[in-house]
Amino acid sequence: MTRKITAAITAVGGFVPEDRLTNFDLEKIVDTNDEWIRTRTGIEERRILKGEGKGTSDMVVPAVQDLCKKRGISPEEIDCLIVGTVTPDLVFPSTANIACYKLGAKNAWGFDVSAACSGFLYPLTLGASLIESGRYKKVVVCGADKMSSIIDYTDRATCIIFGDGAGAVLLEPGEEGYGVLDSILRSDGSGCQYLHMKAGGSKKPASVETVMAKEHFVYQEGQAVFKFAVKGMADVSAELLERNGLTGDDIAWLVPHQANKRIIDATANRMGLDPDKVMLNIQRYGNTTAGTLPLCLWDWEKQLKKGDNIVLSAFGGGFTWGATLVKWAY
Ligand code: UT7
Repeated sequence: MTRKITAAITAVGGFVPEDRLTNFDLEKIVDTNDEWIRTRTGIEERRILKGEGKGTSDMVVPAVQDLCKKRGISPEEIDCLIVGTVTPDLVFPSTANIACYKLGAKNAWGFDVSAACSGFLYPLTLGASLIESGRYKKVVVCGADKMSSIIDYTDRATCIIFGDGAGAVLLEPGEEGYGVLDSILRSDGSGCQYLHMKAGGSKKPASVETVMAKEHFVYQEGQAVFKFAVKGMADVSAELLERNGLTGDDIAWLVPHQANKRIIDATANRMGLDPDKVMLNIQRYGNTTAGTLPLCLWDWEKQLKKGDNIVLSAFGGGFTWGATLVKWAY
């Protein structure tokens, strides 16, 4: 009987910029206050990538270098790099393509995936499939966003939420039963109206008018997104447990998208999980879009044990959402 190949996560890397933007800093820029931000979202500060000409690839590169160092491999050993992002360096070529060059990953092919806040779950499933196919041995999946490049810092409803950062995992063929075990991914384009960027795409290319109208920033109807997110993230996470015959007691960790602590609490509650099983770093990084899930793994890596059942769960623009079950392999 042929052995089924499972894609195991064998290393985690991360990068957050040094510069911090605290709630108190934001109080000086827009009409808001630390108490409102903390109680409505759970966020205390976010990291901002500063520096002329710096883009998302400048966070992908150190995150992948961190991962290579930990695993003791050279970037030349990487077969494929997939970057989830909605803030690519350029419209084309892909950020993955640019990052491979900067990394010296000469033997890799690479591409970007646009799935907003599900920008780690979608490429994780794709990357796992490449390993499971038997054709690739080392696939790096990175979630990275320089959200500060598309945020209007005069809009208090959005500028308080987002931050910059990147996280990455290495996928390799693993022992059977360890690694990415199951995934439920969803997509519903009718949600576009609530969370999108109005201009800069082929439908409405950049012009003086679009810039003047501030149409190159995140547009979000927060309350509507909140309602869909609470239901979508909780439903899909519960469905994933059910179809794998698991309950909250079998789960060591929930790794939730860090958009709002209240959405995270609702998801954990629906899964029957104690709050101490929930990874939470929203207070330090805010919502880094595709970066949130791998940055949680990066922060908690030392506490993870071989055999731990982990559920990664996200909801975001599109709408896109999903949940993935991973059995930790080291
Ligand atoms: O990751 C991508 C997916 N995105 C999400 O999951 C985000 C989901 N949405 C949310 O997290 C929340 O909707 C927000 C954090 C964006 C907003 O929180 P909310 O509890 O939904 O607030 P709201 O929009 O209902 O606004 C309540 C009040 C309003 O004032 P009035 O009309 O009641 O007088 C707002 O104008 O709070 C006001 N407000 C603020 N006050 C102080 C809105 N933003 C701020 C602010 N500081 N930054």
